[in-house]
Amino acid sequence: ILKIFSAFALGYLLGSLNTGVIAGKIYGKDLSSHGSKSAGLTNTLRVLGKTAAAFVLAGDILKGIIACIIGLRIGVYVHSGETIVCASLLAAGAGAVIGHNWPVYFGFKGGKGALTAAAVMFMLNWVMALICLGIFLIIVRLTRYVSLGTICATIFFVAISFIPVFGNTFYFHIFAFLMAFIVIFKHRENIKRLLSGTENKLTF
Ligand code: G3P
Repeated sequence: ILKIFSAFALGYLLGSLNTGVIAGKIYGKDLSSHGSKSAGLTNTLRVLGKTAAAFVLAGDILKGIIACIIGLRIGVYVHSGETIVCASLLAAGAGAVIGHNWPVYFGFKGGKGALTAAAVMFMLNWVMALICLGIFLIIVRLTRYVSLGTICATIFFVAISFIPVFGNTFYFHIFAFLMAFIVIFKHRENIKRLLSGTENKLTF
């Protein structure tokens, strides 16, 4: 259990390196008081532009991947039915997403965790993640609402995770539910804006 907790803590410390907040400091513009006030990719693109967004895109994906590698290296495995699950990988992945959203270095004010969660999901089940990326891109292309694309892809991810061919375990389902809950909870203001028709559309 100590190793699982260490995996979570390392993931959390890594996830807390919120690239949106760092980009904001470099550009001298605090994301938490501009645009959607979120320190994530979409708001970075909106407020700071493409170069900063590219940095955030790379950073958020990378930290999700590195957290998973750390979790794998720690290597705590548990049995789930007939399969074996790397519990430390799930803990490190969850830590990275939670760190991104509530970063310890930046007053617990971060982003919404979608991109980091997507990177972690790619490491866990890249086929499912790729399908959901497709859903995300189609919805954003059609509506230009990034938040709607994210929310739909997140719900879709949980839904398809039950398809037997993906062979997901009980622990994976718990993990996917937790990640989805966090991402959607963080989008609650977006949901209100979507319902009232005042959500920001993606523009360049
Ligand atoms: O993942 C974040 C995105 O779905 C919405 O971002 O800044 O428009 O609230 P934002």
